[in-house]
Amino acid sequence: MSKRFGSFSALRDINIDFARGEVHALMGENGAGKSTMVMLIAGVHQPTEGALFGPLGQRLELMSPRAAIAAGIGVVHQELDLFDNMTVAENIALGPATGHAMRPAKSIMRARAMAALALLDENRIDPDALVGTLSTSDKQLVAISRALSENSSLILFDEPTSSLNSADAARLHAQIRALKAKGVTVVYISHKLGEVFDIADRVTVLRDGAHVSTREIGAVSYESLIADMLGHNPAKIFPKRTAAEDAPVALRVSDLHGINMNGVSFSVRRGEIVALAGLPGGGPTNALRAVYGLDDIRSGSITLPQRDGQRAGVPGAIRAGMAYLPSDRLRDGIMPLMSVVENIEATSAAMADGSTAARRIKALESITTLNVRTSDPGKIITALSGGNQQKALLARWLMMKPSLLLLDDPTRGVDIGSKAEIYHLLGKLADQGTSIVFTSSDSIELSGLADRILIFREGRVFEDVEGGVEYELLDRKITG
Ligand SMILES: Nc1ncnc2c1ncn2[C@@H]1O[C@H](COP(=O)(O)OP(=O)(O)O)[C@@H](O)[C@H]1O
Ligand SMILES: [Mg+2]
Repeated sequence: MSKRFGSFSALRDINIDFARGEVHALMGENGAGKSTMVMLIAGVHQPTEGALFGPLGQRLELMSPRAAIAAGIGVVHQELDLFDNMTVAENIALGPATGHAMRPAKSIMRARAMAALALLDENRIDPDALVGTLSTSDKQLVAISRALSENSSLILFDEPTSSLNSADAARLHAQIRALKAKGVTVVYISHKLGEVFDIADRVTVLRDGAHVSTREIGAVSYESLIADMLGHNPAKIFPKRTAAEDAPVALRVSDLHGINMNGVSFSVRRGEIVALAGLPGGGPTNALRAVYGLDDIRSGSITLPQRDGQRAGVPGAIRAGMAYLPSDRLRDGIMPLMSVVENIEATSAAMADGSTAARRIKALESITTLNVRTSDPGKIITALSGGNQQKALLARWLMMKPSLLLLDDPTRGVDIGSKAEIYHLLGKLADQGTSIVFTSSDSIELSGLADRILIFREGRVFEDVEGGVEYELLDRKITG
Protein backbone atom coordinates (compact mmCIF):
# COMPACT_ATOMS: atom_id res chain seq x y z
CA MET A 1 0.00 0.00 0.00
CA SER A 2 0.95 3.59 -0.50
CA LYS A 3 -0.73 6.63 0.96
CA ARG A 4 -0.26 10.19 -0.22
CA PHE A 5 -1.69 13.31 1.32
CA GLY A 6 -1.58 15.79 -1.56
CA SER A 7 1.96 15.48 -2.88
CA PHE A 8 3.32 14.13 0.41
CA SER A 9 3.97 10.38 0.69
CA ALA A 10 3.08 9.26 4.19
CA LEU A 11 3.51 5.56 3.31
CA ARG A 12 5.36 4.07 0.35
CA ASP A 13 4.98 0.54 -1.03
CA ILE A 14 4.29 -1.20 2.24
CA ASN A 15 4.03 -5.00 2.09
CA ILE A 16 3.24 -6.52 5.41
CA ASP A 17 1.22 -9.36 6.89
CA PHE A 18 -0.22 -9.79 10.34
CA ALA A 19 -0.57 -13.37 11.53
CA ARG A 20 -3.57 -14.71 13.36
CA GLY A 21 -3.05 -14.59 17.11
CA GLU A 22 0.18 -12.63 17.06
CA VAL A 23 1.08 -9.39 18.78
CA HIS A 24 2.76 -7.34 16.10
CA ALA A 25 4.51 -4.18 17.28
CA LEU A 26 4.81 -1.25 14.93
CA MET A 27 7.63 1.12 15.71
CA GLY A 28 9.27 4.19 14.26
CA GLU A 29 10.06 7.79 15.04
CA ASN A 30 7.36 10.44 15.09
CA GLY A 31 6.14 11.00 11.55
CA ALA A 32 7.25 7.55 10.34
CA GLY A 33 3.72 6.68 9.20
CA LYS A 34 2.51 4.39 12.01
CA SER A 35 -0.79 6.16 12.64
CA THR A 36 -1.39 6.46 8.90
CA MET A 37 -1.07 2.69 8.64
CA VAL A 38 -3.61 2.31 11.45
CA MET A 39 -6.00 4.71 9.70
CA LEU A 40 -5.78 2.68 6.49
CA ILE A 41 -6.52 -0.58 8.25
CA ALA A 42 -9.31 1.05 10.30
CA GLY A 43 -11.10 2.46 7.26
CA VAL A 44 -10.47 6.09 8.24
CA HIS A 45 -8.32 6.66 5.13
CA GLN A 46 -8.14 4.63 1.94
CA PRO A 47 -4.82 3.69 0.30
CA THR A 48 -3.74 5.74 -2.72
CA GLU A 49 -2.27 2.59 -4.22
CA GLY A 50 -2.40 -1.07 -3.24
CA ALA A 51 -4.93 -2.83 -1.11
CA LEU A 52 -5.71 -4.72 2.06
CA PHE A 53 -6.56 -8.40 1.99
CA GLY A 54 -8.43 -10.50 4.55
CA PRO A 55 -7.50 -13.95 5.86
CA LEU A 56 -9.05 -15.76 2.88
CA GLY A 57 -7.23 -13.56 0.41
CA GLN A 58 -10.32 -11.50 -0.24
CA ARG A 59 -9.81 -7.84 -0.95
CA LEU A 60 -11.06 -5.60 1.83
CA GLU A 61 -12.67 -2.40 0.65
CA LEU A 62 -12.83 -0.45 3.87
CA MET A 63 -14.48 2.75 2.79
CA SER A 64 -15.38 3.87 6.33
CA PRO A 65 -14.64 3.10 10.00
CA ARG A 66 -18.01 1.37 10.09
CA ALA A 67 -16.93 -0.97 7.30
CA ALA A 68 -13.77 -1.83 9.23
CA ILE A 69 -15.76 -2.59 12.38
CA ALA A 70 -18.07 -4.83 10.34
CA ALA A 71 -14.96 -6.64 9.08
CA GLY A 72 -13.93 -7.37 12.69
CA ILE A 73 -11.31 -4.65 13.02
CA GLY A 74 -11.16 -2.73 16.29
CA VAL A 75 -8.95 0.25 17.00
CA VAL A 76 -7.76 2.51 19.79
CA HIS A 77 -6.62 5.62 17.99
CA GLN A 78 -3.73 7.78 19.14
CA GLU A 79 -6.05 10.77 19.18
CA LEU A 80 -8.96 9.20 21.02
CA ASP A 81 -12.22 9.25 19.09
CA LEU A 82 -14.57 9.44 22.06
CA PHE A 83 -17.51 11.80 22.26
CA ASP A 84 -16.95 14.22 25.13
CA ASN A 85 -20.62 15.15 25.40
CA MET A 86 -21.75 11.54 25.80
CA THR A 87 -21.45 9.29 28.84
CA VAL A 88 -18.90 6.54 29.28
CA ALA A 89 -21.68 3.96 28.84
CA GLU A 90 -22.91 5.56 25.60
CA ASN A 91 -19.40 5.76 24.19
CA ILE A 92 -18.72 2.11 24.93
CA ALA A 93 -22.10 0.72 23.93
CA LEU A 94 -22.65 2.76 20.80
CA GLY A 95 -19.14 2.24 19.49
CA PRO A 96 -16.86 4.63 17.65
CA ALA A 97 -18.92 5.02 14.50
CA THR A 98 -22.00 6.37 16.23
CA GLY A 99 -24.33 7.51 13.53
CA HIS A 100 -27.95 6.52 13.35
CA ALA A 101 -27.35 3.25 15.13
CA MET A 102 -30.17 1.83 17.20
CA ARG A 103 -29.84 3.06 20.72
CA PRO A 104 -30.14 0.26 23.28
CA ALA A 105 -31.88 0.86 26.61
CA LYS A 106 -29.87 2.77 29.17
CA SER A 107 -29.59 -0.20 31.51
CA ILE A 108 -28.20 -2.35 28.70
CA MET A 109 -25.62 0.27 27.77
CA ARG A 110 -24.62 0.56 31.42
CA ALA A 111 -24.22 -3.18 31.79
CA ARG A 112 -22.16 -3.39 28.65
CA ALA A 113 -19.92 -0.53 29.82
CA MET A 114 -19.38 -2.10 33.24
CA ALA A 115 -18.48 -5.42 31.62
CA ALA A 116 -16.05 -3.67 29.29
CA LEU A 117 -14.40 -1.69 32.08
CA ALA A 118 -14.18 -4.84 34.19
CA LEU A 119 -11.85 -6.27 31.55
CA LEU A 120 -9.28 -3.79 32.86
CA ASP A 121 -10.36 -4.24 36.49
CA GLU A 122 -11.69 -0.76 36.24
CA ASN A 123 -14.43 0.01 38.72
CA ARG A 124 -13.44 3.56 39.53
CA ILE A 125 -14.82 5.10 36.32
CA ASP A 126 -18.52 5.96 36.53
CA PRO A 127 -20.40 4.67 33.45
CA ASP A 128 -22.76 7.65 33.75
CA ALA A 129 -20.00 10.28 33.76
CA LEU A 130 -19.64 12.46 30.69
CA VAL A 131 -16.43 11.50 28.91
CA GLY A 132 -15.48 15.18 28.67
CA THR A 133 -15.08 15.29 32.47
CA LEU A 134 -12.55 12.41 32.61
CA SER A 135 -8.78 12.72 32.88
CA THR A 136 -6.70 11.80 29.82
CA SER A 137 -5.71 8.46 31.29
CA ASP A 138 -9.30 7.56 32.17
CA LYS A 139 -10.38 8.45 28.62
CA GLN A 140 -7.67 6.17 27.35
CA LEU A 141 -8.98 3.37 29.59
CA VAL A 142 -12.49 3.89 28.22
CA ALA A 143 -11.28 3.72 24.60
CA ILE A 144 -9.28 0.58 25.35
CA SER A 145 -12.19 -1.09 27.18
CA ARG A 146 -14.43 -0.35 24.24
CA ALA A 147 -12.03 -1.93 21.76
CA LEU A 148 -11.48 -4.95 24.00
CA SER A 149 -15.21 -5.57 24.31
CA GLU A 150 -16.00 -5.51 20.60
CA ASN A 151 -15.14 -9.11 19.73
CA SER A 152 -12.84 -8.02 16.93
CA SER A 153 -10.51 -10.45 15.22
CA LEU A 154 -7.88 -7.74 14.75
CA ILE A 155 -7.28 -4.90 17.19
CA LEU A 156 -4.95 -1.98 16.56
CA PHE A 157 -3.60 -0.02 19.52
CA ASP A 158 -1.95 3.28 18.64
CA GLU A 159 0.20 4.28 21.64
CA PRO A 160 -2.40 3.03 24.12
CA THR A 161 -0.20 3.41 27.18
CA SER A 162 1.14 6.91 26.48
CA SER A 163 -0.84 8.37 29.37
CA LEU A 164 -1.38 5.26 31.48
CA ASN A 165 0.44 4.50 34.69
CA SER A 166 2.33 1.23 34.82
CA ALA A 167 -0.36 -0.62 36.80
CA ASP A 168 -3.00 0.19 34.15
CA ALA A 169 -0.52 -0.65 31.40
CA ALA A 170 0.13 -4.02 33.04
CA ARG A 171 -3.61 -4.77 33.05
CA LEU A 172 -3.81 -3.90 29.36
CA HIS A 173 -0.88 -6.22 28.65
CA ALA A 174 -2.65 -9.04 30.49
CA GLN A 175 -5.75 -8.49 28.34
CA ILE A 176 -3.63 -8.49 25.19
CA ARG A 177 -2.17 -11.86 26.18
CA ALA A 178 -5.70 -13.15 26.71
CA LEU A 179 -6.76 -11.87 23.27
CA LYS A 180 -3.79 -13.55 21.69
CA ALA A 181 -4.69 -16.83 23.36
CA LYS A 182 -8.13 -16.52 21.73
CA GLY A 183 -6.50 -16.07 18.31
CA VAL A 184 -7.06 -12.33 18.05
CA THR A 185 -4.38 -10.44 16.14
CA VAL A 186 -3.01 -7.38 17.88
CA VAL A 187 -1.13 -4.54 16.21
CA TYR A 188 0.60 -2.51 18.87
CA ILE A 189 2.26 0.86 18.47
CA SER A 190 4.49 2.13 21.24
CA HIS A 191 7.65 4.13 21.85
CA LYS A 192 8.33 2.10 24.98
CA LEU A 193 10.89 -0.53 24.15
CA GLY A 194 10.34 -2.32 27.45
CA GLU A 195 6.71 -3.10 26.71
CA VAL A 196 7.41 -4.03 23.10
CA PHE A 197 9.98 -6.62 24.18
CA ASP A 198 7.53 -7.78 26.80
CA ILE A 199 4.42 -8.44 24.70
CA ALA A 200 5.32 -8.51 21.00
CA ASP A 201 5.92 -11.62 18.89
CA ARG A 202 7.16 -9.68 15.87
CA VAL A 203 8.15 -6.10 15.35
CA THR A 204 7.97 -3.98 12.21
CA VAL A 205 9.89 -0.74 11.88
CA LEU A 206 8.77 2.09 9.60
CA ARG A 207 10.94 5.06 8.74
CA ASP A 208 9.89 8.08 6.66
CA GLY A 209 6.93 6.16 5.27
CA ALA A 210 8.99 3.16 4.20
CA HIS A 211 9.04 -0.37 5.56
CA VAL A 212 12.48 -1.00 7.09
CA SER A 213 12.19 -4.41 8.75
CA THR A 214 9.88 -7.05 10.20
CA ARG A 215 11.51 -9.48 12.60
CA GLU A 216 10.78 -12.00 15.33
CA ILE A 217 11.24 -10.22 18.65
CA GLY A 218 13.63 -12.94 19.84
CA ALA A 219 15.97 -12.11 16.95
CA VAL A 220 16.10 -8.40 17.76
CA SER A 221 18.41 -6.53 20.09
CA TYR A 222 17.25 -3.19 21.22
CA GLU A 223 20.26 -1.47 19.68
CA SER A 224 19.36 -2.95 16.29
CA LEU A 225 15.74 -1.91 16.70
CA ILE A 226 16.79 1.65 17.45
CA ALA A 227 19.23 1.61 14.54
CA ASP A 228 16.34 0.60 12.27
CA MET A 229 14.22 3.45 13.58
CA LEU A 230 16.94 6.08 13.32
CA GLY A 231 18.45 4.88 10.07
CA HIS A 232 21.92 4.86 11.56
CA ASN A 233 23.64 3.30 14.50
CA PRO A 234 23.02 5.37 17.57
CA ALA A 235 26.49 6.38 18.78
CA LYS A 236 25.17 5.06 22.02
CA ILE A 237 21.69 5.74 23.20
CA PHE A 238 22.83 6.52 26.69
CA PRO A 239 25.81 8.64 27.66
CA LYS A 240 28.84 6.98 29.14
CA ARG A 241 29.01 7.86 32.80
CA THR A 242 31.78 8.00 35.32
CA ALA A 243 30.75 7.58 38.92
CA ALA A 244 30.64 10.65 41.12
CA GLU A 245 31.54 8.67 44.24
CA ASP A 246 33.78 11.21 45.90
CA ALA A 247 31.72 14.27 45.05
CA PRO A 248 30.12 16.19 47.90
CA VAL A 249 26.44 15.68 48.70
CA ALA A 250 24.26 18.19 46.83
CA LEU A 251 20.86 17.19 48.15
CA ARG A 252 19.90 15.37 51.30
CA VAL A 253 16.34 14.25 51.94
CA SER A 254 15.60 12.87 55.40
CA ASP A 255 12.56 11.01 56.58
CA LEU A 256 9.97 12.85 54.51
CA HIS A 257 6.34 12.26 55.34
CA GLY A 258 3.61 13.67 53.14
CA ILE A 259 1.46 12.73 50.14
CA ASN A 260 2.39 9.13 49.21
CA MET A 261 5.54 9.45 51.35
CA ASN A 262 6.13 7.49 54.46
CA GLY A 263 9.72 8.17 55.51
CA VAL A 264 11.62 8.95 52.31
CA SER A 265 15.37 9.37 52.81
CA PHE A 266 18.12 9.61 50.19
CA SER A 267 20.98 11.81 49.14
CA VAL A 268 22.38 12.84 45.78
CA ARG A 269 25.97 13.82 45.05
CA ARG A 270 27.20 16.63 42.90
CA GLY A 271 27.20 15.48 39.26
CA GLU A 272 25.25 12.33 40.01
CA ILE A 273 22.22 11.04 38.09
CA VAL A 274 19.78 9.31 40.43
CA ALA A 275 16.52 7.66 39.39
CA LEU A 276 13.53 7.33 41.69
CA ALA A 277 11.59 4.26 40.59
CA GLY A 278 8.36 2.76 41.76
CA LEU A 279 4.73 2.14 41.00
CA PRO A 280 2.50 5.17 40.55
CA GLY A 281 1.48 6.43 43.96
CA GLY A 282 4.54 4.79 45.48
CA GLY A 283 6.29 8.07 46.17
CA PRO A 284 8.84 9.00 43.45
CA THR A 285 6.78 11.78 41.85
CA ASN A 286 5.75 13.13 45.24
CA ALA A 287 9.33 13.15 46.46
CA LEU A 288 10.34 15.30 43.48
CA ARG A 289 7.42 17.64 44.06
CA ALA A 290 8.24 17.96 47.75
CA VAL A 291 11.90 18.72 47.08
CA TYR A 292 10.89 21.44 44.65
CA GLY A 293 8.39 22.85 47.13
CA LEU A 294 5.24 22.15 45.14
CA ASP A 295 3.74 19.96 47.86
CA ASP A 296 3.92 20.54 51.59
CA ILE A 297 5.51 17.91 53.77
CA ARG A 298 4.22 16.78 57.14
CA SER A 299 7.66 16.14 58.56
CA GLY A 300 11.22 15.50 57.52
CA SER A 301 13.86 17.72 55.96
CA ILE A 302 15.27 18.66 52.59
CA THR A 303 18.71 20.21 52.68
CA LEU A 304 21.20 21.41 50.11
CA PRO A 305 24.41 21.07 52.13
CA GLN A 306 26.60 23.01 49.70
CA ARG A 307 24.12 25.83 49.63
CA ASP A 308 23.84 25.77 53.35
CA GLY A 309 20.19 25.94 53.73
CA GLN A 310 16.59 25.17 53.42
CA ARG A 311 14.53 26.55 50.64
CA ALA A 312 10.95 27.72 51.02
CA GLY A 313 8.42 27.21 48.28
CA VAL A 314 9.05 27.19 44.56
CA PRO A 315 10.69 30.63 44.21
CA GLY A 316 13.08 29.64 47.00
CA ALA A 317 13.82 26.40 45.19
CA ILE A 318 14.62 28.20 41.95
CA ARG A 319 16.88 30.65 43.79
CA ALA A 320 18.60 27.70 45.44
CA GLY A 321 19.46 26.43 41.95
CA MET A 322 16.72 23.87 41.40
CA ALA A 323 14.79 23.23 38.22
CA TYR A 324 11.76 21.00 37.81
CA LEU A 325 10.26 19.49 34.70
CA PRO A 326 6.73 18.11 35.27
CA SER A 327 5.52 14.92 33.60
CA ASP A 328 2.43 16.44 32.11
CA ARG A 329 4.04 19.06 29.95
CA LEU A 330 0.72 20.01 28.35
CA ARG A 331 -0.92 20.76 31.65
CA ASP A 332 1.91 22.04 33.80
CA GLY A 333 4.80 22.88 31.57
CA ILE A 334 4.35 24.64 28.29
CA MET A 335 2.50 27.85 27.69
CA PRO A 336 0.54 26.70 24.67
CA LEU A 337 -0.35 30.11 23.28
CA MET A 338 3.21 31.40 23.33
CA SER A 339 6.05 30.96 20.88
CA VAL A 340 8.98 28.57 21.22
CA VAL A 341 11.39 31.34 22.20
CA GLU A 342 8.95 32.95 24.67
CA ASN A 343 8.47 29.58 26.33
CA ILE A 344 12.21 29.17 26.70
CA GLU A 345 12.61 32.65 28.20
CA ALA A 346 9.68 32.35 30.57
CA THR A 347 11.37 31.37 33.83
CA SER A 348 14.36 33.66 33.52
CA ALA A 349 12.00 36.51 32.59
CA ALA A 350 9.87 35.77 35.66
CA MET A 351 12.98 35.77 37.83
CA ALA A 352 14.18 38.99 36.14
CA ASP A 353 17.43 37.31 35.26
CA GLY A 354 19.48 39.58 32.95
CA SER A 355 18.21 42.07 30.38
CA THR A 356 15.48 41.32 27.85
CA ALA A 357 17.94 41.41 24.96
CA ALA A 358 20.43 39.16 26.72
CA ARG A 359 17.68 36.68 27.50
CA ARG A 360 16.57 36.59 23.88
CA ILE A 361 20.11 35.87 22.71
CA LYS A 362 20.54 33.10 25.29
CA ALA A 363 17.17 31.59 24.38
CA LEU A 364 18.00 31.56 20.67
CA GLU A 365 21.40 30.02 21.40
CA SER A 366 19.79 27.29 23.47
CA ILE A 367 17.55 26.36 20.53
CA THR A 368 20.71 25.50 18.63
CA THR A 369 22.51 23.81 21.54
CA LEU A 370 19.54 21.60 22.35
CA ASN A 371 18.76 20.95 18.71
CA VAL A 372 15.14 22.07 19.06
CA ARG A 373 13.91 21.49 15.54
CA THR A 374 11.74 24.40 14.48
CA SER A 375 11.63 26.34 11.25
CA ASP A 376 10.93 29.54 13.20
CA PRO A 377 11.51 30.18 16.94
CA GLY A 378 8.64 32.69 16.81
CA LYS A 379 6.24 29.88 15.94
CA ILE A 380 3.71 28.73 18.53
CA ILE A 381 5.23 25.98 20.69
CA THR A 382 2.40 23.48 20.20
CA ALA A 383 3.39 23.23 16.52
CA LEU A 384 6.49 21.27 17.62
CA SER A 385 6.63 17.49 18.07
CA GLY A 386 6.54 16.15 21.64
CA GLY A 387 10.29 15.60 21.72
CA ASN A 388 11.05 19.12 20.55
CA GLN A 389 8.59 20.62 23.06
CA GLN A 390 10.38 18.74 25.79
CA LYS A 391 13.78 19.99 24.60
CA ALA A 392 12.39 23.54 24.65
CA LEU A 393 11.28 23.07 28.26
CA LEU A 394 14.72 21.79 29.17
CA ALA A 395 16.19 24.82 27.44
CA ARG A 396 14.01 27.03 29.63
CA TRP A 397 15.61 25.58 32.72
CA LEU A 398 19.13 25.41 31.43
CA MET A 399 19.03 29.19 31.01
CA MET A 400 18.88 29.30 34.80
CA LYS A 401 22.06 27.19 35.11
CA PRO A 402 20.53 24.91 37.75
CA SER A 403 22.70 22.88 40.09
CA LEU A 404 19.91 20.38 40.73
CA LEU A 405 17.57 19.20 37.96
CA LEU A 406 14.38 17.39 38.98
CA LEU A 407 12.72 15.61 36.06
CA ASP A 408 9.40 13.82 36.30
CA ASP A 409 9.25 11.24 33.50
CA PRO A 410 11.15 13.51 31.11
CA THR A 411 10.84 11.47 27.93
CA ARG A 412 7.22 10.41 28.12
CA GLY A 413 5.73 10.42 24.62
CA VAL A 414 9.10 11.41 23.12
CA ASP A 415 10.44 9.47 20.13
CA ILE A 416 13.71 7.61 20.38
CA GLY A 417 15.83 10.09 18.39
CA SER A 418 14.91 12.96 20.70
CA LYS A 419 15.24 10.67 23.72
CA ALA A 420 18.85 9.89 22.87
CA GLU A 421 19.56 13.61 22.46
CA ILE A 422 18.02 14.36 25.86
CA TYR A 423 20.00 11.54 27.52
CA HIS A 424 23.28 12.83 26.13
CA LEU A 425 22.48 16.37 27.16
CA LEU A 426 21.72 15.21 30.70
CA GLY A 427 24.93 13.20 30.78
CA LYS A 428 26.91 16.26 29.75
CA LEU A 429 25.25 18.43 32.40
CA ALA A 430 26.02 15.85 35.06
CA ASP A 431 29.65 15.73 33.89
CA GLN A 432 29.74 19.49 34.41
CA GLY A 433 28.52 19.08 37.99
CA THR A 434 24.73 19.32 37.79
CA SER A 435 22.94 16.78 39.97
CA ILE A 436 19.98 15.13 38.31
CA VAL A 437 17.08 13.32 39.96
CA PHE A 438 14.46 11.80 37.69
CA THR A 439 11.53 9.41 37.60
CA SER A 440 10.54 7.32 34.63
CA SER A 441 7.92 4.81 33.57
CA ASP A 442 10.46 3.16 31.26
CA SER A 443 12.77 0.64 32.89
CA ILE A 444 15.26 0.80 30.00
CA GLU A 445 15.63 4.50 30.67
CA LEU A 446 15.94 4.01 34.43
CA SER A 447 18.65 1.47 33.99
CA GLY A 448 20.46 3.17 31.09
CA LEU A 449 20.56 6.74 32.31
CA ALA A 450 20.90 6.54 36.08
CA ASP A 451 24.07 6.04 38.09
CA ARG A 452 21.87 4.75 40.90
CA ILE A 453 18.23 3.69 41.04
CA LEU A 454 16.29 4.06 44.25
CA ILE A 455 13.35 1.70 44.29
CA PHE A 456 10.38 3.01 46.22
CA ARG A 457 7.84 0.82 47.89
CA GLU A 458 4.98 2.01 50.02
CA GLY A 459 6.28 5.51 50.30
CA ARG A 460 9.91 4.88 51.17
CA VAL A 461 13.17 3.88 49.55
CA PHE A 462 13.24 0.12 49.66
CA GLU A 463 16.37 -0.69 47.68
CA ASP A 464 19.31 1.11 46.09
CA VAL A 465 20.37 -0.46 42.76
CA GLU A 466 23.35 0.36 40.53
CA GLY A 467 22.66 1.81 37.09
CA GLY A 468 23.03 -0.58 34.15
CA VAL A 469 21.00 -3.32 35.85
CA GLU A 470 19.01 -5.67 33.57
CA TYR A 471 15.72 -3.95 32.90
CA GLU A 472 13.66 -7.14 33.34
CA LEU A 473 15.14 -7.53 36.80
CA LEU A 474 14.45 -3.90 37.52
CA ASP A 475 10.80 -4.30 36.43
CA ARG A 476 10.44 -7.22 38.81
CA LYS A 477 11.91 -5.24 41.69
CA ILE A 478 9.61 -2.30 40.97
CA THR A 479 6.43 -4.34 40.81
CA GLY A 480 7.51 -6.23 43.93
N1 LIG B 1 -4.34 13.87 7.18
C1 LIG B 1 -3.07 14.20 6.86
N2 LIG B 1 -2.78 15.16 5.98
C2 LIG B 1 -1.51 15.48 5.67
N3 LIG B 1 -0.42 14.90 6.20
C3 LIG B 1 -0.62 13.94 7.09
C4 LIG B 1 -1.94 13.53 7.48
N4 LIG B 1 -1.84 12.53 8.40
C5 LIG B 1 -0.50 12.33 8.58
N5 LIG B 1 0.22 13.17 7.79
C6 LIG B 1 1.69 13.21 7.71
O1 LIG B 1 2.14 11.91 7.43
C7 LIG B 1 3.34 11.63 8.15
C8 LIG B 1 3.16 10.40 9.00
O2 LIG B 1 2.30 10.71 10.08
P1 LIG B 1 1.81 9.63 11.14
O3 LIG B 1 1.29 8.45 10.41
O4 LIG B 1 0.89 10.33 12.06
O5 LIG B 1 3.18 9.27 11.86
P2 LIG B 1 3.46 8.48 13.22
O6 LIG B 1 2.16 7.96 13.75
O7 LIG B 1 4.42 7.41 12.86
O8 LIG B 1 4.09 9.48 14.15
C9 LIG B 1 3.64 12.87 8.96
O9 LIG B 1 4.61 13.63 8.27
C10 LIG B 1 2.32 13.58 9.02
O10 LIG B 1 2.51 14.99 9.12
MG1 LIG C 1 1.19 8.36 15.50
